[in-house]
Amino acid sequence: MAAGISRRGLLTGGAAVAGGAAMTVLATAAARDAGPAGGVATAGQSVPAASRTSGGSGTSGPSGGSGASGPSGASGASDVSASAVEPFHGPHQAGVATTPQAHAVFVAFDLRPGTGKEAVVRLMRLLTDDARRLTQGRPALADTEPELAVAPARLTVTFGFGPGLFAAAKTKSPLAPLPSFTTDKLDKRWSGGDLLVQICADDPITVAHALRMIVKDARSFTRVRWSQRGFRRSAHAQAPGATQRNLMGQLDGTVNPTDLDRAVWITDGPEGLRGGTTLVLRRIRMNLETWDAADRVAREFTIGRRLDTGAPLTGRAEHDEPDFARLNRLGFPVISEYAHIRRARTEDPGLRILRRPYNYDEGVTEAGTSDSGLIFASYQADIGRQFVPVQRRLSEGDLLNEWVTTIGSAVFAVPPGCGPDGWIGDRLL
Ligand code: HEM
Repeated sequence: MAAGISRRGLLTGGAAVAGGAAMTVLATAAARDAGPAGGVATAGQSVPAASRTSGGSGTSGPSGGSGASGPSGASGASDVSASAVEPFHGPHQAGVATTPQAHAVFVAFDLRPGTGKEAVVRLMRLLTDDARRLTQGRPALADTEPELAVAPARLTVTFGFGPGLFAAAKTKSPLAPLPSFTTDKLDKRWSGGDLLVQICADDPITVAHALRMIVKDARSFTRVRWSQRGFRRSAHAQAPGATQRNLMGQLDGTVNPTDLDRAVWITDGPEGLRGGTTLVLRRIRMNLETWDAADRVAREFTIGRRLDTGAPLTGRAEHDEPDFARLNRLGFPVISEYAHIRRARTEDPGLRILRRPYNYDEGVTEAGTSDSGLIFASYQADIGRQFVPVQRRLSEGDLLNEWVTTIGSAVFAVPPGCGPDGWIGDRLL
């Protein structure tokens, strides 16, 4: 049995961690029998989102506005028109605090052997120029399809530097490798990378075009290591500011930090990173076939939240605070000790990670099973203090582990934004 799983945990859900799906049914039976311990939300209740405008690169994100939740959650209306533009210049790169766009591609490059600092600088000047133009609805230099550039649809292009880039540029790396987690089954195909480019827009053609321009310009310095496409609900397919759903059907993105100046932006350490952040990118496969076999009670018990409203099992509305101390009438916690939200919780809001996940779905396999999951993007000022403890708790005991497996992992430092004459990384390299 996994370390730290108590007898009570076994009865109320810990069994699933140790014993598989069949045991989950047993475990959730306890929850079902016990019935609601009071305060269970009624179907159909939802919470109007706090309104705020998109947190572009020139803002400090939600903390600078009026919103009560982070970018991937209830974060206000976004302009979904094709001509909508996110600012490129500013203290922070866009694409982190920006209200998540519907489509994304993450592409990781490896520098070609012998690429030194001078070449990295040339590369970053070139790619910054592409990003600066394309995000504002202007063709890249030597754009072969300039007509595709005129609909930016809130395009953002965000750069992250991996450990290999710092080594090539002979610059001290702020990144440490992640510890290995017992639940990881990492595939090289989705892991690592010297340079990350994250391209997001509300239109998939815009994303494809920007990707092509960036890959073309990066070609002489790099080779593509991997690319991952993701999507969220289209802006017109849900109420503005509503939390999106992942492919397990859950509202995903409810709890995120609100004070990005504390939780996300780097404020100390090397001058060249101040105003930047770090990104942990994990590819997490969902086993939707076995998830199908879990009933609603088991599914809600696993997360600790209701599927319809996203309310905690102890509350009525999505943004109600979970009451982790509440017991059901059998004396067991209503929110299991191994429920995902309990294990993932960081009490200090200044140490929370900013989740900006995208769904992936690569269609069906020949066996008729799905190849789906989450491209889990976590931004934080300090990976070791913020991401690692959460991931460690999850890998030590999270009911959700029964259905999800991390198959890719990469870490990047995301430099601050730049001004009209600068380039991304100019203060760092
Ligand atoms: C496929 C994998 C995953 C799924 C389907 C998933 C799903 C969810 C859902 C439905 C919630 C509740 C609503 C919300 O606050 O967004 C949640 C909360 C959360 N998840 Fe995950 N999650 C996954 C992986 C992870 C990973 C890998 C981490 C971090 C290492 C993580 C960290 C969190 C945190 C910090 C919260 C908020 C907890 C709180 O209430 O304070 N999740 N997740």
